[in-house]
Amino acid sequence: MRIFAISDIHIDFPENYNWLKQISCEDYKNDILILAGDISNQIIHIEETFTSLTAKFLKVFYVPGNHDLWVVKNEYSNSIEKLRAIEIIAQHTGVIMEPYSMENVLIVPLLGWYDYSFGSPNQEILSNWVDFIACKWPFGNDVVQITKYFTDRNHISMQKGDRFIISFSHFLPRIDLMPYNIPTSKQFLYPVLGSVLLDKQIRELGSDLHIYGHSHINRKIWKDGILYINNAYGYPYEKSYTHRKLLCVHEI
Ligand SMILES: [Fe+2]
Ligand SMILES: [Fe+2]
Repeated sequence: MRIFAISDIHIDFPENYNWLKQISCEDYKNDILILAGDISNQIIHIEETFTSLTAKFLKVFYVPGNHDLWVVKNEYSNSIEKLRAIEIIAQHTGVIMEPYSMENVLIVPLLGWYDYSFGSPNQEILSNWVDFIACKWPFGNDVVQITKYFTDRNHISMQKGDRFIISFSHFLPRIDLMPYNIPTSKQFLYPVLGSVLLDKQIRELGSDLHIYGHSHINRKIWKDGILYINNAYGYPYEKSYTHRKLLCVHEI
């Protein structure tokens, strides 16, 4: 049994949607897929993705990304209400959003957001980051509170035993996962990439491998004894630096 990972498939782009549809119906029937958020801001696309992937893989795991929680068409009163709708669709289609143990492997989805623990936002990001308009929160717009809402929901007090633990989140658990050569002109995005609270949870959990998305920067890097992997599919214009294919991250 192989465990594959992908994130940020953004199927609103026709090219990305076509890739999703062409995934083999036969090749992955005994395999697992970890989908680390950012499918689409349209719930109908999220549902179609869940239905399509659960028919192709033995099991599919998912956490929402920021794009998945946009409420642009006012079909939900806020992003938490949309999250509940996504969770119901996941239940109906068989997508797993809770910790799940198989043989000697435990897979743990971690909800998250960004709380400026990677830096303070500048005026450019405060004015242009779409989440600030497209996401709505019933408890106000304080990013620290939003992040706490998500991380408080994570299950991290589990017995590791001799199990191999794979955790995954949409958001980055530490900013040093970004390559050193990212141009300074792009680093203004760092405050909205993730939260140090996630890495605290990953270490409490005892993860051996952590999958993350959101940055659209593919990486495989060890940090303090844990292997971190980003295999974002990304936007069509990012294809020069994204692999744009499923990545096998572990075998049972
Ligand atoms: Fe994304
Ligand atoms: Fe994202």
